[in-house]
Amino acid sequence: MPGVYSQGMNKVIEVTELALRDAHQSLMATRMALEDMLPALADLDRAGFWSVECWGGATYDACIRFLNEDPWERLRAFRKGMPNTRLQMLLRGQNLLGYRHYEDGVVDRFVDKAAENGMDVFRVFDALNDLRNLECPIRAVKRTGKHAQGTICYTTSPMHTVESFVDMAGKLIEMGCDSICIKDMAALLKPQPAYDLVKGIKARFGSEIPVHVHVHATTGVTMVSLMKAIEAGADVVDTAISSLSLGPGHNPTESLVEMLEGTGFETRLKKDHLARIRDHFAKIRPKYHAFLSNIVGVDTEIFESQIPGGMISNMESQLKQQGAAHKMKEVLEEVPRVRKVAGFPPLVTPSSQIVGSQAVFNVMMGSYKVLTGEFADLMLGYYGETIGPRDPEVMKLAEDKAKKPLITQRPADLLKPEWQELREAALALPGCQSCDEDVLTYAMFPQVAPQFFLHRKDGPKNVGSDPSPKQAASLSGPVKYSVTFAGKTHDVTVAPL
Ligand code: CO
Repeated sequence: MPGVYSQGMNKVIEVTELALRDAHQSLMATRMALEDMLPALADLDRAGFWSVECWGGATYDACIRFLNEDPWERLRAFRKGMPNTRLQMLLRGQNLLGYRHYEDGVVDRFVDKAAENGMDVFRVFDALNDLRNLECPIRAVKRTGKHAQGTICYTTSPMHTVESFVDMAGKLIEMGCDSICIKDMAALLKPQPAYDLVKGIKARFGSEIPVHVHVHATTGVTMVSLMKAIEAGADVVDTAISSLSLGPGHNPTESLVEMLEGTGFETRLKKDHLARIRDHFAKIRPKYHAFLSNIVGVDTEIFESQIPGGMISNMESQLKQQGAAHKMKEVLEEVPRVRKVAGFPPLVTPSSQIVGSQAVFNVMMGSYKVLTGEFADLMLGYYGETIGPRDPEVMKLAEDKAKKPLITQRPADLLKPEWQELREAALALPGCQSCDEDVLTYAMFPQVAPQFFLHRKDGPKNVGSDPSPKQAASLSGPVKYSVTFAGKTHDVTVAPL
């Protein structure tokens, strides 16, 4: 397992560059086109990164929904353009890149195809930290011989302790993970817990197990968290090139390099390549002005609400649709209460959307007078187990609404083999090619794929040069909720992070 190199007296800290996935997802609604990335690949490949994160649910979704780009073509272009660098993706466990649980056979196919097309590192997470939802995808990655990174979604609650996270790391190691990632999607990881968590994992499982740390910059405290994590023994940290950093994004790669000077740690990144990557994206960024996040500075209120930056703007637009923009404060206060009722799930796709939407409905219509179908599923175990107990009264309401029972088994165990059926449905679509990649595109985005297959031949569409306000309003991968209440149907659309 390469990871820790020694150069002289200093320990080398490895870096994952986020520019091609999380950075533009967080800053410009995942809209960056492949053609705006290609010119940077040679420098990204030579800069000395441990890996370049470049693929995930939202980028895949944005490719087919907005950019008329085949996400598999994009992956192959990355492979070709960065032959010497590990390509890394974010995988939503049993949800793959979609929003529902897939049967194990589909998970296997997806991982096989991603590996075959060039993916090296699979960062696998489950929104509820339910290990049962990680077993199958991690086994699938191990089978391909690629790097399986087990992920701890970091959050805070009365149930979450350093001990509980270290226990989770132990189980991920038992499952065969090659490394552990502490994933802080909302910039909640403060410096001292960052230190304690990494130290706890290293102390219990030995210094050989590589620990990666992913943080966002939104709350302003996480560059220090990275430093403390490094002091505690973290091996790899995630950053984004400065011209695609900060705000709801990440800490700047160049700042990390400079920060480590004189500390006994160093990166092996080459500054001349970093400068060229920076200049390239600095030139590209203004093209996407219509999609740029409104959050530019620091937001420490996230420590209370726990709502990641992107989610706040989604909830604002939900409220606006219902003519209730002034209720934002109430909704923000409601979110932690809904989270408690739901057993303290971390807030990350899809739990962030599910909890956020329910909070909106509670404020608009009274507490749990209306349940979204997804919230009912969450309460009834259809996304997995939560760390804390769920509220029995709301569970009863969920049973009545969803007309299905509470489950305690792994959700995917309820699913029958579905590949053949998905394949037949996909191949019936005009423009769908007879390859597993197209079937997977249909499987994950059945509403969007038909249009994409139909128009794919027109070639990629760069939305950067001609942004319209309408596109800016909807982030990538919106999930639609329809709820009927008092004879009126409410459509709510929220987007993933
Ligand atoms: Co992130």
